[in-house]
Formats: sequence, structure tokens, C-alpha cells
Amino acid sequence: MEKDRTKWNSKYGVPDYIFPFTPSRFLEENLDLVLRLAPGNRALDIACGEGRNAIYLARHGFDVTAIDISEQGLAKGRTRCWREGIRVNFVCADLEQYRLSEKYDVILNFNFLLRDLVPEAIASLTPGGLLIMETIVDTPNLEGMHTKSFLLQPGELRRLFAWYPGKILRSDESPTGTPPVARMIFQKSAAPMN
Ligand SMILES: C[S@@+](CC[C@H](N)C(=O)[O-])C[C@H]1O[C@@H](n2cnc3c(N)ncnc32)[C@H](O)[C@@H]1O
Repeated sequence: MEKDRTKWNSKYGVPDYIFPFTPSRFLEENLDLVLRLAPGNRALDIACGEGRNAIYLARHGFDVTAIDISEQGLAKGRTRCWREGIRVNFVCADLEQYRLSEKYDVILNFNFLLRDLVPEAIASLTPGGLLIMETIVDTPNLEGMHTKSFLLQPGELRRLFAWYPGKILRSDESPTGTPPVARMIFQKSAAPMN
């Protein structure tokens, strides 16, 4: 959506990076699991921002495509890759319109919630592929201004994934965290599907 592009371009349009260079802690803590279980090395980072998680996976041998609506965020990701000698395929697209047409062994979805994209992301996983998601939950202690529809409701992340053929390998919610988040690692069924 154009409004989101403008909002995020202005956030990223400052000299410093707004996210740390380190990846999400949840991804870092589960890297061994990802390396052990991912059926191949193709990865997608949904709404990658400045690319901290995409770059982390690329550094660990993945061939990563990273999509975001903000040219400014992607420019920072590209600069970092160039400086660090890492290759990530950054794509500028509005995920509300964009259709995922390729298959991935690992899909990351951090700090971005587009409920309609979940079935498409799961369809884009190879058999046995992993979808790793972490995003903010709407609880009374949540600080700051947030668009309600971009927040998970308590317990919602598990419910969103309960429909799909596969296993929830990790799932937890920290309602008192700052910010409160829900996290999940879903593994798509390895059985071939039509
Ligand atoms: C909170 S940031 C998360 C960035 C990254 N996943 C991370 O954790 O470092 C949310 C990201 O969603 C992107 N975004 C918002 N709306 C989008 C849309 N419709 N299509 C693609 N990206 C979008 C923003 O540009 C922003 O980079």
C-alpha cells in the first residue's frame, strides 16, 4: 500500500540503520534447527526491512530473496551486503499485491503481519520446508502506537497455522515481553501434495 511505502521510506530515510545488524534472537537461537531440517538452501524473507535476517541466512549458506515495499530499507540492505561481501536478492514489492511464484525451503516472516499471505507462504514452501514467524501481540502492556489490524491477537498465531498439513515445531508467546510477541516454527508436511 502506498501509505506504508511512504511511512517506511521516511523511517528508513535516516543515516543510521534503524534495526540492529544482529538477526532476530529467535532466528539465531534456532539456526541449528534450520540448518538441520531445511530441505534445501533457498530462502525468502518477507518484509525484510534493512535485511538483517536475510543477510544472516545468506551468511549461513542460503540463497536468499528478500522482499520489502520500502526502497530506502532495501537500499540499506544492499549497502550492507556490498560492504560485507554477501549476496541477497532484494526485491521491492507491495506484498498486498505481489504473488509468490517460486518455492522456498525456508520462509522468514518477522515483525510483519499480513494474514492473507500465510496460505500463500505455506503453498510456496517445498515439502518439509520451514516457515519461521515472529510478530507483535496485542496485549494491555503493549507500548507505542500500532495499527490494530497488524497485531496478532493472543493465541492467534497457533490458530492460523492449525489448518495446514505440517507440524508446529516451536511455538510460544511472551505476553509480558517488550514488545509482547508470538513466535512459531512451522514445518510443512514432507508428503507430496496436489
Ligand atoms: C517492523 S519492519 C520489520 C523488518 C524486518 N522484518 C525485521 O524484523 O528487521 C516491517 C517491514 O514491513 C514492510 N512493509 C510494510 N508494508 C508492506 C507491504 N505492503 N509490502 C511489503 N513490505 C511491507 C516495511 O517496509 C518494513 O520494512
